[in-house]
Amino acid sequence: MDSPPISTLAVIGAGTMGAGIAQVALEAGWQVRLHDANPAGLDTGRRRIRDGLAKRAARRGLEAGAADDWVASRLGELHASSTVERAAERADLVIEAIVEDLAAKQALVEAVDSACPPGTILATNTSALSITAIATAAARHPERVLGLHFFNPAPVLRLVEVVPGAATDSEVEARATSIVTGWGKTPVRSTDTPGFIVNRVNRPFTIEALRLVEAGAATVPQVDAAIRADGFSMGPFELMDLVGIDVNLAAATGVWEGLGRPERLRPSPIQGWLVGHGRLGRKSGTGFYRYRDGHEPVLEPLPASVAPHATRGSVPAHEVASRIRRAIAAEAVLAREAGVATESDIDTALWLGAAHPEGPFAWLRRIGPDAAGGAGDPTIDR
Ligand SMILES: NC(=O)c1ccc[n+]([C@@H]2O[C@H](COP(=O)([O-])OP(=O)(O)OC[C@H]3O[C@@H](n4cnc5c(N)ncnc54)[C@H](O)[C@@H]3O)[C@@H](O)[C@H]2O)c1
Repeated sequence: MDSPPISTLAVIGAGTMGAGIAQVALEAGWQVRLHDANPAGLDTGRRRIRDGLAKRAARRGLEAGAADDWVASRLGELHASSTVERAAERADLVIEAIVEDLAAKQALVEAVDSACPPGTILATNTSALSITAIATAAARHPERVLGLHFFNPAPVLRLVEVVPGAATDSEVEARATSIVTGWGKTPVRSTDTPGFIVNRVNRPFTIEALRLVEAGAATVPQVDAAIRADGFSMGPFELMDLVGIDVNLAAATGVWEGLGRPERLRPSPIQGWLVGHGRLGRKSGTGFYRYRDGHEPVLEPLPASVAPHATRGSVPAHEVASRIRRAIAAEAVLAREAGVATESDIDTALWLGAAHPEGPFAWLRRIGPDAAGGAGDPTIDR
């Protein structure tokens, strides 16, 4: 396969992630061709990129005139494309960030595969779909398709999960890894398995928190306070309210089903009840907490029929945090044993992609095997 000097990125889907990824490439000096099926989406994406670049210029401490010049020069390399084919025809790398739907992504990959030269790399930013399944749509060159999973907000978060599918050429993987490194990102390698690294290994952050509340071991605010005191920037319930309880439940269900419905990762009935009752978190005004403009969030109680023990709290704070850390570490060990990623990549992924104060293996090493209570033992049946 040819290795042309890479300088043009096509981004398909100009939403939250597409605009963020386009900004990253523009900042790194690439030319970007942007396409969205919805013309209004393309306008919004362009505005987002412009605002993102302006923020970046301000953070770099550029003075007003220099900042405007820099933003204008970067925006001069951003071109809107009216069709997928136009966007992709001369691109060195195409990244799709369209709706999370297998059929839609396959249709797009089929079109891109037909439109661009064999040396072009095709990447998907899917969070949860199989890379191998998406790549089957590239009838001509399935070997050039891989996952490049950026995190939100893409211009800020350094982590990118690089996910080869069954047919991905190792040279394609190496080139894609080198490109995102050149963009200032930190790549980690994951196999093509449900949740990749972060969305799998970090599942117990919320699942174990819910189990503690279900069991009456700790209340919602006690869990959040214990986790904050343990060095995390946000507690699990605060996090679920922020990302949306519906979004969290969909991710949890996807990983649980993808891994064969293991009991340890079974979503909690509390999540299903909240979603069913429109308590989706910040975006709906209530979730685990109630949000009102100008007021601190306050606890919104769970009905006794859903969480009969939620008002108890029988376990000390350090034990609450330790139980959640142990569950994450146990999942990390299972992922390593299943060959999903190396210890070092799992640690990097949780640190940079989920804002953990340290990766699970670093934590296990720090506290030692006795304190970990078997979390580091892959032979324990879970
Ligand atoms: N939002 C996140 O936190 C996040 C994080 C990592 C990965 N992802 C993944 O990135 C992808 C995009 O997510 P998002 O949050 O940016 O979505 P979004 O809804 O903000 O943007 C999607 C954009 O794609 C456009 N689109 C839809 N179908 C299209 C098609 N067939 N051709 C061209 N454009 C099309 C839409 O008009 C929209 O502008 C998804 O696969 C998602 O799972 C999202």
